[in-house]
Amino acid sequence: MTQELAPTLRDQSAAPSAGWWRDAVIYQVYVRSFADSDGDGIGDLRGVRERLPHLADLGVDAVWLTPFYASPQADGGYDVADYRSVDPLFGELSDADDLVREAHRLGLRVIVDIVPNHTSDQHAWFRAAVDGGPDAPERALYHFRPGRGPDGDLPPNDWESVFGGPAWTRTDAGDWYLHLFAPEQPDLNWEHPAVREEFESILRFWLDLGVDGFRIDVAHGMVKAEGLPDIGLREQAKMIGAQVLPFFDQDGVHEIHRSWRLLLDSYEGQRIGVAEAWAPTSERLALYVRPDELHQAFNFQFLTCAWDAAAMRQVIDSSLAATASVGAPTTWVLSNHDVVRHTTRYGGGAQGLRRARAAALLTLALPGSAYLYQGEELGLPEVADLPDGVRQDPAFFRGDGQDGLRDGCRVPIPWSGTAAPYGFGPGASWLPQPAAWAGLSVEAQTGDPRSMLELYRSALALRKELSGLGDGGMEWLPAPEGVLVFSRPGVVCTLNTLAEEVELPVPGRPVLSSGALEFGGGAVRLPGETCVWWAV
Ligand code: GLC
Ligand code: MG
Repeated sequence: MTQELAPTLRDQSAAPSAGWWRDAVIYQVYVRSFADSDGDGIGDLRGVRERLPHLADLGVDAVWLTPFYASPQADGGYDVADYRSVDPLFGELSDADDLVREAHRLGLRVIVDIVPNHTSDQHAWFRAAVDGGPDAPERALYHFRPGRGPDGDLPPNDWESVFGGPAWTRTDAGDWYLHLFAPEQPDLNWEHPAVREEFESILRFWLDLGVDGFRIDVAHGMVKAEGLPDIGLREQAKMIGAQVLPFFDQDGVHEIHRSWRLLLDSYEGQRIGVAEAWAPTSERLALYVRPDELHQAFNFQFLTCAWDAAAMRQVIDSSLAATASVGAPTTWVLSNHDVVRHTTRYGGGAQGLRRARAAALLTLALPGSAYLYQGEELGLPEVADLPDGVRQDPAFFRGDGQDGLRDGCRVPIPWSGTAAPYGFGPGASWLPQPAAWAGLSVEAQTGDPRSMLELYRSALALRKELSGLGDGGMEWLPAPEGVLVFSRPGVVCTLNTLAEEVELPVPGRPVLSSGALEFGGGAVRLPGETCVWWAV
């Protein structure tokens, strides 16, 4: 693409449109595992910039970059020590600037992660809070409390860390501080005006640099219930997303998102906020995307849905109904850096791959926006057998919270060649890549019409061509049990979730299929676990 022909983003947003995010396909780059430019084995911003043509060619609309800020990396960068600087592992500020500019030149928008629930324990505020002793004014920026019991040696309440163990750590001064995640991630006190002011200033910093929006980490967590009440139950990590907890999905968080929306809207070019929010129902999740709040929220109900037609239909209906009730688009997500890759969740091996191919066509045919996680376009499986010595997920070392196995979806992706690191960078990658990944590289799959990569490329190209896809409505059509059939303007999508083939009347002209079709007598034999798009 020459510079003259490249679409410019400002032109697109100037066109009459309901909002670019409403049907955007957004690709999640887990920066440390995408591409390494300097050979330290860790992906970096320059690496991302050099590989942007892959994303433009894939056909996505935007890129979401996981945190690349100054951080001791106690939780893969979700422990931020300085929100306005780039960690030397990932480059420098000018690299972020170059990356945003190059992405825009290629017609890609850029969303960055913002981590407002907690800072790193190396953040200047927390250092001052601890080093300054009990009277340090910075203590008010976090949640410091005296312990319980006669000697104060019991935590202030019974809250558990998402990563396992108590959500409190005792200081040398004898009191305790709250951390819903690792001890290196102290929770901020959002009742304090300085916290609110600081984050508005941080948002402005990145908006001024030109980013198109923010993925808001733990967007459901900033506000805690008054008095930090006990929960009275163990295994609280398992309740996240299943019920409102005194530390998650409190109504008070919405006021923060409302103020951020005002700030986003004060910038030209449709800057967006997307919530990582775990809410117990689609209805509660929809509260985050009311017209004066954020633009999108990840739809984890869909991610966690079983491979079952009735269950999928129910989740699709409730997601669409809930977001429609507030006028927001739905998002569809199958994988991210916190969950087992979906080819593996769907059964692994040939079956997992077949289902993942079908699921890709399903999600890209549904109304709304879709998020892709790096490597799903290659059909990468979870890497289950990483040696303990290379693992870095903090939950792995704490036990009994989350399963602690989030490294298996974070293995650096294969680009080319027949041996590790498969073009990831000049040196060995921070997590070892399986030998079997030679056949899964971008290079190996390019041009092979049966490959996952070419399926995604075709689907994303067609999604742009067929105007009925993307934002808008859908209608369910009659279908046998185990099969989903729905129509969008000009398109019908058929998904057979069963293992065995089914016969259906031909609904139109097949334009894309995740498996081979056989026709005869006005009917089509839809193989098991296959999805097809038909033009009508
Ligand atoms: C979010 C991130 C996850 C991180 C956690 C704490 O859930 O996606 O990776 O560990 O927040 O910041
Ligand atoms: Mg590097």
